[in-house]
Parts: sequence; C-alpha cells; structure tokens
Amino acid sequence: MSSNVAEMSPPRLLVADDQPDVVEAVRMLARAHGFDVRSAASPAAVLALCEAEDFDVCLLDLNYARDTTSGIEGIELLTRLRELDPTLPVVVMTAWGSIEGAVEAVRRGARDYLTKPWDNARLIATLTAQLELCRALRTVNRLDAAAARSRSAELPAIVARSRAMQQVMALVERVAPSSASVLITGEHGSGKEVIARALHAASARSARAFVAVNAGGLADGVLESELFGHVKGAFTDARTDRTGCFELADGGTLFLDEIANMPHGQQARLLRVLQTGEFHPVGSSRARRVDVRVLAATNADVARQAADGKLREDLVYRLNTVEIQLPPLRDRRDDIPELARLFLARARGGPARRLSPSAMDALLSHAWPGNVRELEHVVERASLLATGDEITADDLLLRPRDAAPRLEDMTLDEVERYLIERALATQGGRVSDAARVLGLSRSALYRRLASLGIRS
Ligand SMILES: Nc1ncnc2c1ncn2[C@@H]1O[C@H](COP(=O)(O)OP(=O)(O)OP(=O)(O)O)[C@@H](O)[C@H]1O
Ligand SMILES: [Mg+2]
Repeated sequence: MSSNVAEMSPPRLLVADDQPDVVEAVRMLARAHGFDVRSAASPAAVLALCEAEDFDVCLLDLNYARDTTSGIEGIELLTRLRELDPTLPVVVMTAWGSIEGAVEAVRRGARDYLTKPWDNARLIATLTAQLELCRALRTVNRLDAAAARSRSAELPAIVARSRAMQQVMALVERVAPSSASVLITGEHGSGKEVIARALHAASARSARAFVAVNAGGLADGVLESELFGHVKGAFTDARTDRTGCFELADGGTLFLDEIANMPHGQQARLLRVLQTGEFHPVGSSRARRVDVRVLAATNADVARQAADGKLREDLVYRLNTVEIQLPPLRDRRDDIPELARLFLARARGGPARRLSPSAMDALLSHAWPGNVRELEHVVERASLLATGDEITADDLLLRPRDAAPRLEDMTLDEVERYLIERALATQGGRVSDAARVLGLSRSALYRRLASLGIRS
C-alpha cells in the first residue's frame, strides 16, 4: 500500500485540532510517512482551508472546545465538511472512552475513528487506507462522470449463470417487448434495478428515457411534484414550472422503486394515471396525456403490505400484471464466481487480478444478507486491501454469520453495517421501521444505506 502512496504526488492531510502539541506530533509522524500536512485550530479555519485547497484525507478532533467565534462543534464541522467535499474521507479522533461521539460521527459520515492517545502505526495505517479509498473513489467518480453521457443507454453486464437467474432472464425476454407493468420483488441488493433496466433495454422503448424514482423515500407533497410536476405558483416554493417524471419518461419507462413505502395519497394518483394515462401537474387544471411503461420494485412482501393496508390492493393488481421475483444470492450460489470476477475486473483498486481458491470458497459459503451489492462491496474492498496479485480469504474481511459478532473486533463501519442489517432483518426489510428502531430519520437511514451499499 505504501508504495502506491509514494508513487503519486504527496497525499495531503488536513489536521483539525485545537491542541498545538497534538497537531505537532501528528505533523511529524505523518510527514515522516510522506504526507503533506496542513492544520487548522478552529472550525472556521478548517472550513476556510477546505474551501481554498484540496485534501485527500482529514483527521478531525471531535472534542473541540466550542469555538466561540463560529459556534461550530466537531460533529457539526464534520457535517459541513461532508457538504463541502463528499469524497473527502474524515477520520475522527476522540478521547479514550467516549465511543458515543465516534458512533455519532460515523452516522454523520466519518469513515473511521481513532482514540487518543493513539497508536502511531494504527494512525498511519488508518490514514493510508482512507487515502487509497479516497483516491480510488475520486478516480471512479471522474471516469463515471465522463462516461455517463455516452454510456447511459448501455446496459451493464448481467450475470445469470444459475438456473434461478436463467429463468428470470427468460421471463425478462418474454415480457420486455410488451408495455405491461412489471413488479420486481427481491431482497435488498438482489438486482431489481438491474432487471428494470434490462426490461427497458430489451423493449421498443429503449431509445427513449428510463426514469427512476424512489417512491418510498420522499414525503407526500415532494413525491407528487416529482412524479407529476407542478406549475409556477402551485405552492410557496414553486417559482417556476417543473416537469415531472411521468412527462420525462413519455415514450419510455418509469421505474418506481420502493413502491411499498409510497405515501397513500400518491398511490391513489398513480392508480389513476395507470388507468387513464392522464394526470394533472400540481396546481394545474389541464390534464396531460403520456405513454409511459411503469415498472415497480420492492423488497417488501407485497401481499402482506396489501393485507396491512399499506399498499392499495387495486394498485398492486395494476402493477403486478407480471411479477418477477429475484432470488436472494444465497439461493443462487452458481452466480457467485462469475459475479466476483466481474466485480474484481471492474474494481480499480490494487494490483489483485484473481481470487485465491480459499477466497472463492469463503465467498461461496457466505450467507450474503446484502446479496449482490454486498458481494460487489466485499470484492471492491478486498481489491483495495490486497497487496499481491491474488485476493486472499483474509482480504475479504468476511465474518462468520452464525458466530455472534464481537463489537470490539469490528471497525465502526462494520458495526454500523451490522446494526443496520439487523434492524432491517428484524423489521422485515421496512426502511421506515428500521429507521425508527435505529433512532434515525428515514432519509438519514437511506443515506447510510446508500453509502454502505446496502441498497442504492
Ligand atoms: N445479475 C447481476 N449481474 C451483475 N451485476 C449485478 C447483478 N445483480 C445485481 N448486480 C449489481 O449489484 C448491485 C445491486 O443491484 P441493484 O441496485 O439492481 O439491486 P436492488 O435490488 O435494486 O437493491 P435495493 O433493494 O437495495 O435497491 C448493482 O451494483 C448491480 O449492478
Ligand atoms: Mg434498487
């Protein structure tokens, strides 16, 4: 790892701490390991520096004496830093024994934490790991942005080696050409969006737009204007007309994700569009007519959601003209080797080009509660961690699922993932219920799910 760091321009470390002796000690240590170090003693100075210059990693003291000039504390500063540069990894430092602060910091997007007094080797290892992750992410972001336009219509490779997936793909081929609604069900990360895109790509609509909306992640009114648009003056903030997703998807496909969490009022509106092909933008009396194929997805048990009154039965009936059920990854292990190789080829991390036999065994026997997305992340992380040309079982950092995990053996990221996955499992995959159990707002949980890759 360290050879990688040395080859590129010196990594830039920002130390945000108000204790001069701490700053000096970190500066000397980090310099000796090739870092270019800048420091700032007050939160206001940290933000100013970050706005003026690019950094590759930030070490942030959580126990700021409250900065009297700006009134910003460590946690709040972390939030502001994340807004300024979401790709900047922030490692927080906290006094020994105040782990709650670190947990809160991770909730707000810190990548890792260290306790004071720190261990020099661990500090450098942590900064180096975050630095490499950051560089990899920034490269991927750049490449993705550049390729996005030319590639947007292109379909990513779909692995379907297992019998179960072959049946799914056969069904996709059969129903793609029609304009029938399709309901795609399956656990988190099992590939529902991949299948939705495949349906669009294989249809006569493929040259037109594929528009994806998270129907369960938005408040009632926000979702209404997202879907149907609004006219200027429809409500206080409506300063201009806005085109809704139904209009954007005209001639193409509208993908409604998280349909089971869609607010009731919008379910009624959606049903009307499906029945009549017409809708009204918010604040407009003029009906618009569109030709949109609707695909919907959920990880919830639709029958139960309907029985509980969360999903309108007539809407379910309209949406599931065809239902495609995606099996969880643990029920189609034949796909694992090819998926792993695909993700490894895609990962732009370290030098590893293949998986060792024991690594492959470990992948094949893991339970994969997070399905394909979890596998993707495990392989990506391993490719960053592997030092040789082969990924070993150790690089995968897989934990046996049946042994109760020991929190003290886990990184904060892993603790967070574990708690979130457990909450989702105990709440039957319902994000809003899991959020309540975790003490998070639903949107905050969605952000964490996205950044941990538990769902998109
Ligand atoms: N069969 C597959 N072949 C290749 N890649 C796949 C396959 N299935 C899923 N993936 C990849 O796994 C990740 C998760 O897939 P996707 O986003 O479609 O899952 P999802 O079911 O919509 O998840 P969620 O419920 O969390 O929204 C994506 O990066 C996707 O490209
Ligand atoms: Mg999805």
